[in-house]
Amino acid sequence: MRRFGTLAAVALLASCSPKPKPPEPAPFNTAIPINEVMAHVMDPAADAFWGGMGTSYTVAGERDLSPTTEAEWKRVEDGAATVVLATNSLMVPGYQRAPIADWNRHAKGVADVALRAKAAVEKKDMVAMMEIGDELDRACEACHKQFSPAIAKPYVAPAGPTK
Ligand code: HEC
Repeated sequence: MRRFGTLAAVALLASCSPKPKPPEPAPFNTAIPINEVMAHVMDPAADAFWGGMGTSYTVAGERDLSPTTEAEWKRVEDGAATVVLATNSLMVPGYQRAPIADWNRHAKGVADVALRAKAAVEKKDMVAMMEIGDELDRACEACHKQFSPAIAKPYVAPAGPTK
């Protein structure tokens, strides 16, 4: 009798519990087209990292670009961290391009390098930063070669109007 009561209670509970709803898709915002995501997020972030190393040569002379203040080091590290996070955006449905497995692999490739870039900046390891800087460039280009061959090639100015 007691056993029957328990079973009845379980059956009653089961019939009352609401059916699990499929999870709502996250409201990802993909209003900014991918070329602008590159121009306004990915490229400036990578530039902030790349800008923290090397030498600039201008008419005013040579200048070592290594960060000298904590604020400058932070800007360089911010760049590397932003690249890592920006790769997540590339893998949002709406930005992904087919074949998606290749697209995601390239995005992950950039994230892995940018994470190492961030760690090198944290250690203020200029030698590692220079090496990783080159690797980052190659990781970006790997995706461009497959998904946007036009920009992966050296830039050639379009022919002007003929007349
Ligand atoms: C998963 C693929 C992928 C990765 C990774 C990627 N890009 Fe891109 N990028 C693209 C695509 C696709 C375009 C061309 C967009 C289009 O079709 O208009 C592009 C375009 C660009 C452009 C040209 C934007 C314009 O004004 O038209 C720049 C600059 C750029 N990417 C920089 C970078 C940098 C820097 C990185 C690495 C830190 C990077 N991209 C990583 C896919 C990628």
